[in-house]
Amino acid sequence: MKLWNKGFEPDKLIEEFTVGNDRELDLRLARYDVEGSMAHIRMLESIGLLESEELPLLLSALEDIAISIDCGGFVIEDGVEDVHSQVELLLTRRLGDLGKKIHSGRSRNDQVLVDLKLFFRDELKNVAQKMYKLFNRLQHLSYKHKDTLMPGYTHLQVAMPSSFGLWFGAYAESLVDDMEMVAAAYKIANQNPLGSAAGYGSSFPLNRTMTTQLLGFEDLHYNVVAAQMSRGKTERAMAYAVASVASTLGKFAMDVCLFMCQNFGFITFPETLTTGSSIMPHKKNPDVFEIMRGKCNRLQSIPNEISLLTVNLPLGYHRDLQLLKDIIFPATTSLCQCLDMCDFMLQHIIIREDIIADSKYDYLFTVEDVNRLTLSGVPFREAYREVGMQVQRGEYVPTREVNHTHEGSIGNLCNDKIAEKMHKVLKKFGF
Ligand code: ARG
Repeated sequence: MKLWNKGFEPDKLIEEFTVGNDRELDLRLARYDVEGSMAHIRMLESIGLLESEELPLLLSALEDIAISIDCGGFVIEDGVEDVHSQVELLLTRRLGDLGKKIHSGRSRNDQVLVDLKLFFRDELKNVAQKMYKLFNRLQHLSYKHKDTLMPGYTHLQVAMPSSFGLWFGAYAESLVDDMEMVAAAYKIANQNPLGSAAGYGSSFPLNRTMTTQLLGFEDLHYNVVAAQMSRGKTERAMAYAVASVASTLGKFAMDVCLFMCQNFGFITFPETLTTGSSIMPHKKNPDVFEIMRGKCNRLQSIPNEISLLTVNLPLGYHRDLQLLKDIIFPATTSLCQCLDMCDFMLQHIIIREDIIADSKYDYLFTVEDVNRLTLSGVPFREAYREVGMQVQRGEYVPTREVNHTHEGSIGNLCNDKIAEKMHKVLKKFGF
């Protein structure tokens, strides 16, 4: 039976179409639904909408539901629309009319909002933790291989000396910027919508500051309409954060595939971490990084998906908003898998140490040699011409000495400064 039952049940086809896979997705919200309900009834009791002896009965019934969620015994039954309906149904089955009291001053619109915000906070913290683990792995590899040179490319043409220290460190620092996006999404999610009810508040004297404190939100969405409008907006901020991390990870995965190709041959992985071919017996393919690249490319489409889903919705609740779950829930899961997998693979990466000894990389050093001449007093443009002519005549012999010392260059990677930046951002989560 529906919460909104008025003496008839909807057509089965209508129910199937409108509920879709929402029951399955809602299972991830169950424990947050209980948490939000606990805060709501504590507040109802404080304003006299529940008797003081009723509160412990409801709290202990909710506690039991929380236990069944943690043990995997909680289900959303057939014919029950969503997690909110299921929780209320369980309370009503156990406590009769008392169970029916908890929805005073609340709508499923602010209920789902509060569930989502609590869930998103945890999801974003989880993403941040995984990012930080990968960040440390990259920083470690950067430091460990700081003296191993590799070719640097522009236009995919041999350009200037680079190093594994620079390569790994670059992705570490890139994750700091992504972390800023994740922290921003966290801040947006960390505001209490509860009490906005259907999106226009309530005639009950709700104490929204109290539920804000009980649920550990940093602040509340004061304006009840703004609270309702945060559905979609919060997801959008999250989507940008997810897409930002995915763009870093996807680019890194592409680099790995390229550098593992025989024409580069800069890195490899143990046989057991690569995949083979059904016809070519010699193959050792980087499928892990290809799947990672593909997943990360897809993740970069979610801000767009969210925009298109919400772009023409006026203020207030619309059922379309339900479909946001189907975009954002799998997205964070997929991102977490990629972060974990990247960290795992990097524990086993094998690096070639002597790459630039190969004469095909001789031209990497032309700028070094121009600079050396410049330092010895030859004007830069003269020095450039002199080395350029040596290359033209096929007489260029590199000195192969690299002496980069400024901040962020091969010889001065500034890993400690990068770590400092990361820690500053992480403080925003209260880590
Ligand atoms: N499953 C719904 C959602 O995610 C719950 C809110 C239903 N509210 C309503 N007014 N029908 O949006």
